[in-house]
Amino acid sequence: MAKLLVIDDEIIIRERLKKLLLLDKYEVYSAENGIEGLKMFETHEPDIIIADIKMPKISGIDVLKEIKARNNMIEVIMITGHGGCETAIEAMKQGAFGYIQKPIEYDELHIEIEKALEKQQMKIKIDSYVKELEYRVNEWEITFNCVSDMLSIHNKEYKIIRCNKAFIETFKFNPDAPDSKPCNEMFNCQEERDCLNVKTYGSKSACMKEMYYPELDVYLEVTASPIFGSEGEFKGSIHIFKDITQRKLYEEKMKASLQEKILLLREIHHRVKNNMEIISSLIELQIEDSSDKQLIDVYNEMKNRIRSMSLIHKMLYQSENLSEVNFNDYTKSLVVDLINSYCVDPSMIKIDVNIDDVLINMDTAMPCCLIINELVTNSLKHAFTETKTGALEISMQSLGEKTYELVVRDNGKGIPEGFDISQSSSLGLKLIRTLAEYQLGGKIEMNTSAGTEFKLRFKELQYKKRV
Ligand SMILES: Nc1ncnc2c1ncn2[C@@H]1O[C@H](COP(=O)(O)OP(=O)(O)OP(=O)(O)O)[C@@H](O)[C@H]1O
Ligand SMILES: [Mg+2]
Repeated sequence: MAKLLVIDDEIIIRERLKKLLLLDKYEVYSAENGIEGLKMFETHEPDIIIADIKMPKISGIDVLKEIKARNNMIEVIMITGHGGCETAIEAMKQGAFGYIQKPIEYDELHIEIEKALEKQQMKIKIDSYVKELEYRVNEWEITFNCVSDMLSIHNKEYKIIRCNKAFIETFKFNPDAPDSKPCNEMFNCQEERDCLNVKTYGSKSACMKEMYYPELDVYLEVTASPIFGSEGEFKGSIHIFKDITQRKLYEEKMKASLQEKILLLREIHHRVKNNMEIISSLIELQIEDSSDKQLIDVYNEMKNRIRSMSLIHKMLYQSENLSEVNFNDYTKSLVVDLINSYCVDPSMIKIDVNIDDVLINMDTAMPCCLIINELVTNSLKHAFTETKTGALEISMQSLGEKTYELVVRDNGKGIPEGFDISQSSSLGLKLIRTLAEYQLGGKIEMNTSAGTEFKLRFKELQYKKRV
């Protein structure tokens, strides 16, 4: 129920109004002058005040001013005598809700009171919305300023329209300066392709870049997200600047250290290869000193085995990743070495190398290269002793899932019938079997129906941690 306070020095009017208002179920208080009215205002806290303008001691206008000063939410309806128009206008200027001329028509007053109450409710609602809005804006502002990264909001004309405390402090930016630099000047993004505002507009999604900011000698990671209006129109972007100087320095260090390790690894492979070449050269010297044909053959085979291994190290230090060998390149080089070593005439023996372009790790490549060395050597040494001409084919196919099939086939005289590879006591075939079955865990098959064919199926070995 609304509380009303009637202030009028004329008792008849005051009492009449009180009576009528009580009948309308208002809670009514009355005072006979302004001073008493102000006291009752404090004690009863009315919602609406109906005050006469002309009163002794203190005028209705002064009462109005005082009430508005104390609580602007209170609505005051003034009562004026005949011809008090100017005073009524003055009252309105001072914030009165309305005025009623004497003699008072109760219905008119009643409508006025209801309108005043409605306005008051509206004002209370607006007031609470404003407070809520202020609270939210304030909360957003606090949160925005709590972020330790630099945040800024740029409009599509590259103007920084909002920024947080970290941004202001880091970039010594004055957001209130009317001539503050646009973002593309401030961060030296003269080219459109450097501008994240342009990029986010184009991609309609967040974009990121790293940049060096020379004024502070820092590296920044900048992420910009586009801002769209309710109609989907591009309004600008919000930028987040992260200082990544420490990370950059760490990355540089890591890169340098990695580069150093790569060099070291290359150097190791190079030295291993050189040492193996020295061993080969020592064997070579031994060959020169020897006159025993059988011994020279053995020395030569040893030398070739060592060279086939040293070739792997050579390939490794020349390779990109230092741990895998391109098997096609390797096999071609190995075959060329063997052709030279056995003085094969390419016009007599046609050699076909057909290896898939596969990269094989060192653990697998080493036994594999020795097997190829043995098989090719055998073909060059034994297959064409009678015909002197023929064909040799070396192929390796990837069967998927890191499984490979190696085939070395010649159309020479073939291995003598009844030859059992598993029973062979000679070093070459024994080595082939041991490496194929035990080291590679593969399966080797021999076919002697036309010439000699060895087929080896194996899976690339998993790298074993050695320390
Ligand atoms: N491709 C081939 N064509 C014809 N005969 C072959 C072929 N491969 C192997 N042989 C025969 O099988 C034998 C055994 O070969 P194996 O490689 O074990 O020994 P090797 O080549 O004689 O000597 P090493 O032990 O130095 O390799 C050879 O002596 C040869 O008679
Ligand atoms: Mg052999």
